[in-house]
Amino acid sequence: MATVAAVRQTSAIDVKALREDFPILKQRIHGRPLVYLDNSATTQKPTAVLDALQRYYFEQNANVHRGVHTLSGRATDLYDAARITAQRFLNAADPREIVYVRGTTEGINLVAQTWGRANIGKGDEIVLSEMEHHSNIVPWQILAQEKGARIRAIPVSDRGELQLDDFEKLLNDKTKIVAVTHVSNVLGTVNPVADVVRTAKKRGITVLIDGAQAVAHETVDVQALGCDFYAFSAHKIFGPTGIGVLYGRAALLESMPVYQGGGGMIGRVSFGATTYADLPYKYEAGTPNIAGAIGMGAALEYVMKIGLDRIAAHEQDLLAYATQQLSTVPGLRLTGTAPHKAAVLSFVLEDVHPHDVGTILDREGVAIRAGHHCCQPLMGRLGVPATARASFALYNTRQEVDVLVKALGTVHEVFA
Ligand SMILES: Cc1ncc(COP(=O)(O)O)c(C=O)c1O
Repeated sequence: MATVAAVRQTSAIDVKALREDFPILKQRIHGRPLVYLDNSATTQKPTAVLDALQRYYFEQNANVHRGVHTLSGRATDLYDAARITAQRFLNAADPREIVYVRGTTEGINLVAQTWGRANIGKGDEIVLSEMEHHSNIVPWQILAQEKGARIRAIPVSDRGELQLDDFEKLLNDKTKIVAVTHVSNVLGTVNPVADVVRTAKKRGITVLIDGAQAVAHETVDVQALGCDFYAFSAHKIFGPTGIGVLYGRAALLESMPVYQGGGGMIGRVSFGATTYADLPYKYEAGTPNIAGAIGMGAALEYVMKIGLDRIAAHEQDLLAYATQQLSTVPGLRLTGTAPHKAAVLSFVLEDVHPHDVGTILDREGVAIRAGHHCCQPLMGRLGVPATARASFALYNTRQEVDVLVKALGTVHEVFA
C-alpha cells in the first residue's frame, strides 16, 4: 500500500470537476449531502453514459444485425463499436473474443455450462478460493454436482491474502480449471492473478479470472495476464446494469459448445441439423441488450479518457487516508489488511451489528453496505456473520471519509 504523501504526488484527478459528471451525487439524503460509498455493489453513472442511453432511445433505437433500414444500421454500428471499445479496454487480441453477457455472473455461468460441461468429468477438480463471491462458487457447484467433480478452495490468510504455497499444492493432474477473483469485494485484496495464471499454466490448467471488482480500479491486460477467461459487469464501472463482458481466448471459444439457443446465434436452422454463427455471436442468443452495450462502451471510453493509472492513484490516496482515519474509531476492526489492496474497507464495530451501522450511517447521508456481501464461505473463514463495507470510486473525496468517520461516532452515541 502506498503512503498518503507518496500517492498525493501522483494524483492529478480534479475530483471536484469529475463529480459534476455524476448528477446523482448532488442529492441530499435525510437532509444531508449524499456520501456514496457503496461502489463495490454498483457505481454511479456519468452524463456521458446517461446521454448515450438517451440518444440511443431518442434517435437510434432499432434491432441489430437483421435490418436493412437506416436506424438498424445505426444501432448495429454503435453496438459493434462498443465491442471494439471493450476489446481495447481489455487489450484482447480480437473483438471476436468479447462476448456480451448480462454481467460477471452470466459470464461465469456461461463458462461453467459450456467449457465446463465439455471438459470436466467425474473425479476432476475445480480450484476456487475462500474469498470468492457466490457467483464464482455456485455455478461450479452446479457443474460439480452434475459431473461428480470436486471443488477445492485456496486458503486465505488472516490478513486476507491468497496462500500461494497452498495453491500450488492443490494443483494436480485432476485439476481442470482455476477460477479466482482479481480483487476481493470484501477484503479489497488485489490478488496476484498473473502469478496464479503462471502457476496454473505450468500444468496446462485453464484459468478464469472474475474481474468484477478490478476493472474500475486498475488497467487490465488479458494478453499480458495470459488468462483464458475474464469476466466483468458494466454496472461496476459506471455503465448500465444488465450488460457485461466475458473475454475468452478465441481458440477456446471456438472449441466450446453453444450456451443458449435462439435467434442471432445460428448459421442455418433446419429440423434435421442446425449450424451455429461465428464468434462471438454463437454465444449471444436473442435480441441483445443493445442500449446496455452502447452505454457500456460510453462508460469504458469515459474511464479510459481519465486514465486508470490516475484513478488508481486517487483511490490509493483515499484508501490510505481512510485506513488511517478508521483506525481512530474506538472498537472498529478492519477485515482485510493485505498490503496490496483496492479502496474497499470492510469492518466490524464491537457490539454493533453491521446492519445497524449501515442504517445509522444512512441517516447521516452515508451509503455503505452491510451483510455477507455474497461471500458466506469467506465470512465463515473470518469468523463473522457479516461486515460493514465502505467502497470508494474515482468521485469520492477525503472530506467524505471525514463524514464517514464522524458518522461512525454517532453509531457509538446511539449504542452507548
Ligand atoms: C467479486 C465479484 N464477483 C462477481 C460479482 C457478481 O457481479 P454481477 O452481480 O454484476 O454479475 C460481484 C458483485 O458484487 C463481485 O463483487
